[in-house]
Amino acid sequence: MDVLREQLGLTGTKKGCDRGECGACTVFLDGRRVLACMMLAVAATGREVTTIEGLTSSDGALHPVQREFLDNDAFQCGFCTPGQIMSATACIAEGHAGSDDEIREWMSGNICRCAAYPQIVSSVAKANGQLGAGTIAGFAVPVADEAGSEP
Ligand code: FES
Ligand code: FES
Repeated sequence: MDVLREQLGLTGTKKGCDRGECGACTVFLDGRRVLACMMLAVAATGREVTTIEGLTSSDGALHPVQREFLDNDAFQCGFCTPGQIMSATACIAEGHAGSDDEIREWMSGNICRCAAYPQIVSSVAKANGQLGAGTIAGFAVPVADEAGSEP
């Protein structure tokens, strides 16, 4: 997280708790969500890291999850939002966004101190209707079976 923010200037990744409890620092490592504050940078050597900046297309168009968060006012202060969006994108790709309860369960590692949870869940559900499971940032993602567990 510190390398991303302080050496690479990718400040979209937020430092909340700095101890793996809030989800504000969520990024993708080879297409899987990880907490950047819990990783040493050397552990990412040779692997692909995607931050919130990488979700936006090169022409500046927002990712559908970003668009839904904006359209549904799914934030107040916005500090948790990058982590929420990264986790939501992964949640959808993994096939864990089939119902509001499932979204709450698989997004439970992302804390919002402003309690924007109803709008966050609504945004994820709407984005799930557009995206569906299977891919994330160019990587194929194992999709959950009907019981909700991954292969
Ligand atoms: S800053 Fe990483 S989980 Fe809170
Ligand atoms: S919008 Fe403020 S912490 Fe989530």
